[in-house]
Amino acid sequence: MNTRKGKIAVLLSGRGSNFEAIYKNSTSADSPYEIALVVSDKRKAKGLTTADEFGIPTNFVRPRDFSSKTAYEKKLIELFEKFKIDLICLAGFMRIISPTLINKYPARIINIHPSLLPLFPGLEAQRQALEAGAEVSGCTVHFVDEGVDSGPIIMQARVRIEKDDSEESLSTRILSEEHRIYSEVIRLFFQNKLKIEGRRVKILT
Ligand code: GAR
Repeated sequence: MNTRKGKIAVLLSGRGSNFEAIYKNSTSADSPYEIALVVSDKRKAKGLTTADEFGIPTNFVRPRDFSSKTAYEKKLIELFEKFKIDLICLAGFMRIISPTLINKYPARIINIHPSLLPLFPGLEAQRQALEAGAEVSGCTVHFVDEGVDSGPIIMQARVRIEKDDSEESLSTRILSEEHRIYSEVIRLFFQNKLKIEGRRVKILT
């Protein structure tokens, strides 16, 4: 029996709470995946320090050391190949990735975003939802395509917006749903239960 676990790379730019939740999920005995690599574009990202503490290989790849986005992403690809990465998980990675990377890993790059896409893409999604007067927001895990937060949606979770919500209180409630659904999607991916049909993703039961 082949017992190789799927290998994921987590890309992050900051706090890394989604990374921590994914890590925790990956440590259960029945996990079909493990985190093989954490990469950041920010040297001081808290998530990098945490990954070091967990004993996970980390890499800080500084964008300004490269002459172009293509050169930067080629370096990322080199790392992914070295660590035999099967799935790339963007978790608060605040850079837009280009076809160089996307075409190398078709349907193998996923992202989490703190709104019910296609509503409120881009930065400060929680603030956008509050300013729009929405009654509901949430989070989305989706495949990454060339647009901004525009790829096929895999899973969403709703969060009610209360009248007295601040950006912070809403973000906290959304975050706990992010932590729940991101690991769930990664498990489904490695159980071969995600099927893309056009722009729709079917979850096989
Ligand atoms: C999360 O809320 C994630 O959804 C968001 O950044 C935060 C990272 O938190 N990502 C985006 O807005 C991407 N468009 P974390 O570093 O604690 O996981």
